Amino acid sequence: MLLIGKCLRVPAPHLTGFALKLFVWLVEVPLIGSFIMSYVKKQNKMFEILRKTKIPEAPMFKPEFPPQEMEAGVVVIEEDIRPTDRVDLALKCLPSYDPARCWTGDSVPFLYWKIRDYAHAYRSRLVTPSMVAENIISAVEELNNKKPPMALFVTFSAEEVRKQAAASTRRFEEGNPLSILDGIFMAIKDDIDCCPYPTKGATTWLHEVRTVEKDAVSVSRLRSCGVIFVGKANMHELGLGTTGNNPNYGTTRNPHDVERYTGGSSSGPAAIVASGLCSAALGTDGGGSVRIPSSLCGVVGLKSTYGRTDMKGALCDSGTVEIIGPIASTVEDVMLVYAAISGSSPADRISLKPSPPCLPNLSSYDSSFSLGSLRLGKYTEWFNDVYSTNISNKCSDVLNLLSTTHGCEIIDIVIPEIHEMRTAHVVSIGSESLCSLTPDCEDGKGTKLTHDTRTNLALFRSFSASDYVAAQCLRRRMMYYHLEIFKKVDIIVTPTTGMTAPMIPPSSLSSGETNLHVSGYLMRFVIAANLLGLPAISVPVGHDKQGLPVGLQLIGRPWGEASILRLASAVEELCEKSRKKPAIFYDILKK
Ligand SMILES: *[C@@H]1O[C@H](CO)[C@@H](O)[C@H](O)[C@H]1NC(C)=O
Ligand SMILES: *[C@@H]1O[C@H](CO)[C@@H](O)[C@H](O)[C@H]1NC(C)=O
Repeated sequence: MLLIGKCLRVPAPHLTGFALKLFVWLVEVPLIGSFIMSYVKKQNKMFEILRKTKIPEAPMFKPEFPPQEMEAGVVVIEEDIRPTDRVDLALKCLPSYDPARCWTGDSVPFLYWKIRDYAHAYRSRLVTPSMVAENIISAVEELNNKKPPMALFVTFSAEEVRKQAAASTRRFEEGNPLSILDGIFMAIKDDIDCCPYPTKGATTWLHEVRTVEKDAVSVSRLRSCGVIFVGKANMHELGLGTTGNNPNYGTTRNPHDVERYTGGSSSGPAAIVASGLCSAALGTDGGGSVRIPSSLCGVVGLKSTYGRTDMKGALCDSGTVEIIGPIASTVEDVMLVYAAISGSSPADRISLKPSPPCLPNLSSYDSSFSLGSLRLGKYTEWFNDVYSTNISNKCSDVLNLLSTTHGCEIIDIVIPEIHEMRTAHVVSIGSESLCSLTPDCEDGKGTKLTHDTRTNLALFRSFSASDYVAAQCLRRRMMYYHLEIFKKVDIIVTPTTGMTAPMIPPSSLSSGETNLHVSGYLMRFVIAANLLGLPAISVPVGHDKQGLPVGLQLIGRPWGEASILRLASAVEELCEKSRKKPAIFYDILKK
C-alpha cells in the first residue's frame, strides 16, 4: 500500500487474503468507508497538518526553483540535438574502454556486462544482436516455466524481439549502427507507451479503454538510437504500491532471493536488469518507484529532476511528482540511457526553466578535482532510522570511505517536518492519480482493480480540494528548507530504503497485500525527491547479513544530475568488490 510512511497508524496494518477483501469491501461502503478513512487520517495527524494549521506559504503546484548555478567540471548536453548526438557526447565522458577487463568469463568480483561490452562484441563480430535475442528468448521461456514463475513481464513477444534484432543485425552488417545503444536490449515499464505493445499499467483492462498509437517521447528517443525493446515489464498495479505485489500477472521475484519482493513499483524493470536479461530498463518514479526496486535488486536507478524528461506517453504524464528514469547495472549505463532520454517538454520549459542537462566527465575523474570538494549532508537520526543496522552501518562505511579516499566532507544536517512532507506527498500523488483514473473507473472498471489499489483509491477519494492546496503550500515550504540545506552541502545522502528485500507472504499472491510496516520502511527516504522534484540516484553498496543488496541514495540540487552521477560512480568503484552474482542470473552475451 502506497499510503504513508513511518507514522501511519491504521486499524489493520497488515492484511492479506480474506481479511484484505473484507477491508476493501468496508472502505468502499459509503458511510463506513468515510468513517474508517477519517480515523486513519486522524491517527496520522492529517487533519491537524492540512486543516487545523495555518500555512503561511503560497501554494507551489509544480517544483519551480530559482535558476541554479552551473555544476563544476561538467559537460553540457544540448536539449535539442538528436538523441544519437547526446549519446555520443555521453560516451566521450566515460573512461576509455578496456575490453580485457570484462571478457574474463566468470569474473571475481562479479561484474555485469555493460552496454560498451555489447557494443564491443557487435563491432568485433563476436556476436550479433540476433544471436543475443535468441539467448534472451530462451532465458525468458525458462524463467516462465520456473516454479514459482519470476513474473518479469506483462507483455513479451519473441517474434517482435527477433524482428527488431534482425534490423539491428542488418545495420551492423552494413556498417551503420545508429549509436552505441544500437542492438542494446531494454525493457519498458508497463505504464509507458512502447509500440507495438499494449500499455496495461499491469491492470487487466486498461488497454481496452486506452490504445497505444505511438511511442512515449523517451521511448522514441531510445528507438532512434537503435535500442531493441523486448517487452513491457511487470509492475505494482498502476504504480500504486512499493512491493511489486501483483495478483494479475504474478508478483515479480527478486533475482537475489526468489522468496522475496523486488520492491516497486518498477518491479519488473529492476529484476530484468538484475538477472542480466537486459542492459537497461525504463521505470517511472512518483514515490521511489525507480530507486526502491533498484536498491532491493542491487542495481542502479536514477530519478532525474522533475521536468528533465518529456513525460508524454506515460500514464502519469500530467502529475507533478513523477518522472521516467533509467535502471541499469552500472552508473555508466545509466548515464548513456539518461543522455538519450533527457530533454524537457516545451510546456515545462516555460514554468520550470531547466538548466541544460549535464554529465560528469568521468575520464578526467582520476584527478578527482571536484570529488574532494563535495560536501555531503547527513541527517544522522533519520539516516539511522532503519529496520536493521546492517543498512545504516553499510551506508556509513561508504561515507567514511568517500571521506578517506577522496576527501569528501560529511556535514551534519537536520531536515525539519519530514512527516508533513510525507503527508503533502501522499495527498499530491493520491489526488493526481485519482484524477487521471477517474474517467476510466467511473464506468465500473474500478472493481476490476486489485484490493490493494482499491484501498489506496478509497483514501485518495477522501482528500478534499483544500487538502490538495494545503499540500502544495507545504511543498513550497519544504523546497525552501532544502534550498537552505543546499547552501551548506552539495548532496544529501541516505540509505535508499530502510529495509532490504522483504519476504513475499504466500497468502498475498492471489489477492494482494497491504503492509504498512513494510511500505513505511521502503519509502522512508525517497519522498523529498518526488514532492520537491529533486534528482536522486540509488547505487548498490553491498549486502546485508542475509546476502540481500543494500543501496545508498544521493539526493542532488535541482537540475544537479551530473554531481550525483559523479559521486555515484565513485561509490560504485569503492564498492565494486562486494557485488554478488544474483541467484537468478543469465549470461546473455556469453552463452
Ligand atoms: C573528458 O575529459 C577527457 C580528458 O581530459 C577529454 O579528452 C574529453 O574530451 C572530455 N570529454 C568531453 C565530452 O568533453
Ligand atoms: C549485520 O548484522 C549482523 C547481525 O546483527 C552483524 O553480525 C554484522 O556485523 C552486521 N554487519 C554490518 C555491516 O553491520
